[in-house]
Amino acid sequence: MKNKTLLSVVTALVVLVIGAFFFNKQEETTSSTDQTQTVKVGVLQYVTHDSLDEIYKGIVAGLKEAGYDDTSNLTIDFMNAEGDQSQVQTMSKKLVDNGNQLLIGIATPAAQGLANATTELPIIMGAVTDPVGANLVTDLNKPGGNITGVSDQTPVADEIELIKAITPDAKTIGVLYSSNEDNSKSQVAEFKTAAEAAGYTVIEYAVPSSNEIASTVEVATSKVDVLFTPVDNTIASAFSTVVSVANKTKTPVYTSVEDMVEGGGIASVTLSQYDLGVATGKMAAKILDGADPATTPVEIFNEGSVVVNKTVADELGLTIPADILESASRIIE
Ligand code: TRP
Repeated sequence: MKNKTLLSVVTALVVLVIGAFFFNKQEETTSSTDQTQTVKVGVLQYVTHDSLDEIYKGIVAGLKEAGYDDTSNLTIDFMNAEGDQSQVQTMSKKLVDNGNQLLIGIATPAAQGLANATTELPIIMGAVTDPVGANLVTDLNKPGGNITGVSDQTPVADEIELIKAITPDAKTIGVLYSSNEDNSKSQVAEFKTAAEAAGYTVIEYAVPSSNEIASTVEVATSKVDVLFTPVDNTIASAFSTVVSVANKTKTPVYTSVEDMVEGGGIASVTLSQYDLGVATGKMAAKILDGADPATTPVEIFNEGSVVVNKTVADELGLTIPADILESASRIIE
C-alpha cells in the first residue's frame, strides 16, 4: 500500500515535469517566432592573431548592441581560413552556399575572397586598410556595389615621432611586411614617404610568406637600426618570430598594433581593434535593417593612440622620454 502511494506520487510528478517541459518549449517557440525571425550572418576571418580575434569579439558585441543577438535572433556562421589562400576561396563559397543573408570579412584577404564569391549578397569589410587599393570598392563615400564596411587606416606616419624620441641615434629603418597583402602596400608607402622626409633611410623587407620571416629579419637586423611593421596579418600572426630574431641584435621593433607591443614590440601608434569590430557589427546591422551597401559610406578609423612597452625599452637599454610616457594611452611594464 505504501509503495503504491509512492508510485502514484512519483508518476504524478513525472507527468507534471514532462508537461511543464512541453508547455515551456511551446511557449519558447511561439514567442521567438512572434518577436523576430532568426537572421543568418556568415563571418570569414583570414587568420588567427590577437587583433583579428579582438575584432571578431567587437563584431558580435556591435551586432548585439544593434539588436542582433547571437544567443537569440542571430546565427553566426563563423569560419577561419588560418592564413590559407585556398581555404579563403573554399570557405567564401561555403558561406555563400550556406544561405547566409550577409557576409563579413575580417581582414583584406578574407573580404577579397568573399567579394570573389558573390556580387549579390551584402559584404561588410571588417578592418580593411585600403578598400580601394584592394579593389573592393570604387569610392569610399559611394562604394557602388554590394560591399561596404570599416577601414582601419592607422596613422603610421605619426610613428616617426616615436622612433625619433625613443631611438634618437637611429638613421636606417627596416620596414617588414608581407608582399601578398594589399593592406600593407599603402601603409608602407605612407610610412616611407614620411620617414624619408624626416631624413631616414628606409629599406623595405617584403616576405612572400611567414616561412621567410626569420631569415629576413636576420638579414634586416644586420643592416638597419630599427624595424617597423605595418598592420600586416602575416607579420602579426608570426610576431613572436620577429621579436626573437630581432632580440639577438637588440634591434627595437616598432609596430602598428597594441597586441604586438604586448608581444615584445617597443612602441606603436594604434587603433582599438575592439572598437573597429563594434563599428563593423553595427554597420552589418544597418544593412540587415535595409540600408544599401552601394550608398553606405565606408567608415574610416584613423586616430591612433600611443602604446609603449617599458619592459622592452629596459631590456634594450633605451629610455622612453617623459613626454612620450605622458602622452601614452597605455604603458606596458
Ligand atoms: N587591416 C588589416 C587588413 O586590411 C587587418 C587587420 C586589422 C590587422 N587589425 C590588424 C592586421 C592588426 C594585423 C594586425 O587586412
